[in-house]
Amino acid sequence: MEFSIFHHLRVLFFFFTLSSYSFVLRGDNITSAGNLSLRNRVRNRDKSSVLLVDVRSFGARANDHRDHTKAFVAAWDKACKSSSSSVDLIIPRGEFHVGPLRFSGPCTNVSNLTVRVKGNLKASTDLSKYRSGGGWIEFGWINGLTLTGGGTFDGQGAVAWPFNKCTTDSNCKLLPTSLKFVGMNRTVVRRISSVNSKFFHIALVECRDFKGTRLNITAPSDSPNTDGIHIERSSNVYFSRSHIATGDDCVSIGQGNSQITITSIKCGPGHGISVGSLGRYPNEKDVKGLVVRDCKMSGTTNGIRIKTWADSPGLSAATNMTFENIVMNNVTNPIIIDQSYCPFSSCTSNVPSKVKLSEIYFKNIRGTSSSRVAVQLHCSRGMPCKKVYLENVHLSLSSSAVGGSEKKQSRNIGSEAVSSSCRYVRAKYIGTQIPPPCHY
Ligand SMILES: *[C@@H]1O[C@H](CO)[C@@H](O)[C@H](O)[C@H]1NC(C)=O
Ligand SMILES: *[C@@H]1O[C@H](CO)[C@@H](O)[C@H](O)[C@H]1NC(C)=O
Ligand SMILES: *[C@@H]1O[C@H](CO)[C@@H](O)[C@H](O)[C@H]1NC(C)=O
Ligand SMILES: *[C@@H]1O[C@H](CO)[C@@H](O)[C@H](O)[C@H]1NC(C)=O
Ligand SMILES: *[C@@H]1O[C@H](CO)[C@@H](O)[C@H](O)[C@H]1NC(C)=O
Ligand SMILES: *[C@@H]1O[C@H](CO)[C@@H](O)[C@H](O)[C@H]1NC(C)=O
Ligand SMILES: *[C@@H]1O[C@H](CO)[C@@H](O)[C@H](O)[C@H]1NC(C)=O
Ligand SMILES: *[C@@H]1O[C@H](CO)[C@@H](O)[C@H](O)[C@H]1NC(C)=O
Repeated sequence: MEFSIFHHLRVLFFFFTLSSYSFVLRGDNITSAGNLSLRNRVRNRDKSSVLLVDVRSFGARANDHRDHTKAFVAAWDKACKSSSSSVDLIIPRGEFHVGPLRFSGPCTNVSNLTVRVKGNLKASTDLSKYRSGGGWIEFGWINGLTLTGGGTFDGQGAVAWPFNKCTTDSNCKLLPTSLKFVGMNRTVVRRISSVNSKFFHIALVECRDFKGTRLNITAPSDSPNTDGIHIERSSNVYFSRSHIATGDDCVSIGQGNSQITITSIKCGPGHGISVGSLGRYPNEKDVKGLVVRDCKMSGTTNGIRIKTWADSPGLSAATNMTFENIVMNNVTNPIIIDQSYCPFSSCTSNVPSKVKLSEIYFKNIRGTSSSRVAVQLHCSRGMPCKKVYLENVHLSLSSSAVGGSEKKQSRNIGSEAVSSSCRYVRAKYIGTQIPPPCHY
């Protein structure tokens, strides 16, 4: 997404009503031994210490088109309040209409809570049910959550996208993020799919020790603000082995993050992997220790992008960021630093960004650019970038970007035709450089 939205999120999260938790639990006395399929009974014997909680025990029925939010909340309550140290919450195969849903901790005596989604969850399309800035499914303040099972979270975003005014209006109402994780420790999200989120697919706020792997994230290339994964104020976060095809950033790394690793991501269509935007709000925290490695970008508008707002209200910094072994396939701006970012026509200020960028390594970046300026490093006039390194960069012009009659020789022409552009930065160059270095 083109700007940061989570500065006020913590406050909002506390305002949720407890009403959905207050009805009488229908499945109160149904525990792992109560009402389970034969398979689950067998499993239960095998792992006798794991409590199994199935949403069907609380009245949820697959494929019946009714809303099962209450059954899911009741099942969560059972799982989270359990005295077992390990609990499996099962959402079986089939389609379930739910949401918005809040799965909140702390789950005091549960050290490992697995939510196993095998089915296809479908979000409500009634937008009046969601808070601005809220999520469709939110997990908050839980230690040791694993979300897995091969299932799909379908945000049913197509009905909501026409109501998204955030690409033009800075005071827009925010549509719900599909999966939101707030204040979580030791989370694993593995083998799940997200399709057609109304807003972001997955967002992390104030999470520690988070691992996401084998995710499949899809939305149309023209769906607004459907960032694949957004990370904010989090540390020790690792995402790997995932496919992201969406309408905005595949991954966006906002303010206050440290020790973030993104590896083996296939991105495209989408807006690429972005740091930022940074410097929109007062009191933003620094970004430090980012590694993006072994990723492939195809047909994206950006490859690796670092963007900070012009006229930022406070000082902040982003440092120690490495982008390594990245393959670009027909990417419009493969490497881009943009420190005068301002997507709204209302910003006319010429004041330079106060976000200090330093220790940025681009290593082994190769492939094709669909525009001639393959490397653009435009830093802040007020705070020039420091310690920017480019090592072995080989980007040629995509054959489709070369005129028809020239196509035969496009490889050669491509190498010669790409260029770089620098402002307020003196980068250091090591090894191959195509495009050739720029001199500022
Ligand atoms: C739960 O079921 C057991 C046996 O099935 C019974 O002894 C117990 O009273 C029940 N508890 C409640 C709260 O209904
Ligand atoms: C137990 O589960 C079956 C199907 O899984 C369902 O038909 C039945 O109503 C459930 N019983 C109770 C008491 O919830
Ligand atoms: C959690 O564990 C504590 C300490 O062992 C115990 O007193 C408490 O009853 C347990 N809570 C639940 C919900 O089982
Ligand atoms: C919880 O999960 C972690 C990691 O999978 C494992 O090392 C630990 O033994 C589990 N703890 C319990 C109580 O099952
Ligand atoms: C997560 O860990 C931090 C640091 O250890 C702690 O302050 C916080 O309370 C933990 N959060 C939860 C939900 O337990
Ligand atoms: C990802 O999900 C999309 C849409 O559901 C599907 O078409 C595609 O095959 C999936 N890709 C992988 C690698 O699972
Ligand atoms: C830079 O970030 C990497 C990866 O997160 C980390 O291992 C390293 O210690 C950091 N270096 C400095 C000087 O902070
Ligand atoms: C490459 O990208 C450009 C601009 O995004 C697009 O017009 C063109 O069709 C793409 N070419 C291929 C071969 O995908």
